[in-house]
Amino acid sequence: MIEVEHLSKQFGPIVAVDDITFKVGKGEIVGLLGPNGAGKTTTMRMLTCFLPATAGSASVAGCDVFRNSIGVRKNVGYMPENNPLYTDMRVEEYLRYRAALKSIPVWDRRKRVAACMDRCAISDVQAQIVGTLSRGYRQRVCLADALLGSPPVLILDEPTSGLDPNQIRETRTLIRDLAREHTVMISSHILPEVEMTCERVLIINRGRIVADDTPGNLSSTLSGDFVEVEVKGPAKEVRAAFEKISGVSEIADMKEGEFNWLEIRVAKDKDVRDDIFRCVVEKKWALREMHRRRASLEEVFATITTGSEKDN
Ligand SMILES: Nc1ncnc2c1ncn2[C@@H]1O[C@H](COP(=O)(O)OP(=O)(O)OP(=O)(O)O)[C@@H](O)[C@H]1O
Ligand SMILES: [Mg+2]
Repeated sequence: MIEVEHLSKQFGPIVAVDDITFKVGKGEIVGLLGPNGAGKTTTMRMLTCFLPATAGSASVAGCDVFRNSIGVRKNVGYMPENNPLYTDMRVEEYLRYRAALKSIPVWDRRKRVAACMDRCAISDVQAQIVGTLSRGYRQRVCLADALLGSPPVLILDEPTSGLDPNQIRETRTLIRDLAREHTVMISSHILPEVEMTCERVLIINRGRIVADDTPGNLSSTLSGDFVEVEVKGPAKEVRAAFEKISGVSEIADMKEGEFNWLEIRVAKDKDVRDDIFRCVVEKKWALREMHRRRASLEEVFATITTGSEKDN
């Protein structure tokens, strides 16, 4: 549904998007995740024909973003960041105006607008002036706008930013619901958000795609697991002994004292628990607790995005 090849965007000397390539299949729900300034919005603006790319190619729903921008716009519901709306209009009036712009036939407009307002839970504010709505409600109006033409592809730029926890939960459910009928791409820098809603995550950092996988695979393959152990023994010796175990890539002290809490980062596909146990027995220390924990997406994200900063 979305195909991007070697797409780049430069703003003068700034390379906002740097040679990205990815595909999003029909019915997928993909999260574009990255820190501030990573290039998420720029990518989305290029995919929705709001911004011309400097190089590369992209197509959405089979329409080329350079040659068939009208086709792209017909097939994409775009919710930009920061909710750009006409603040002097009333909600329903605004949506009907947008429906007209989207060439929804006159006979169908009222029904479509009502259905989208219902879906985004804004029917009760339909007569209110947009400028007087709270931020969360404006966000919903934007989402309703994106849904108006029943486009096969939805591109939503930070759909839950600025919402309260209840609204976040509702929006998440709504997005997951929408994914049944639409191909959805959302951007976010909130990790649990993406972890909970998306089947696939594209991590973008400094304009480059640095990871493309399911949240689960990213957690396990990219950064390995953690083993947390509580050991009674001399802190320095314990640490030195564990460092020698093959597969241990990093040890963080959580707490030192009679009992030491250590968080051991393990290289991917390794399980060092048996070796740790044997080592503790050999040294006649005491093992109080040991468990394996998968790296959270947050840790993966930190590893990837700060790691590549060092490379640059
Ligand atoms: N119109 C513009 N002119 C010059 N630089 C721009 C323009 N738009 C974006 N940039 C730059 O491109 C880079 C990527 O910006 P972008 O808005 O795509 O980031 P983002 O990932 O959406 O970040 P955020 O999480 O803060 O929304 C930034 O360095 C930004 O300053
Ligand atoms: Mg942005």
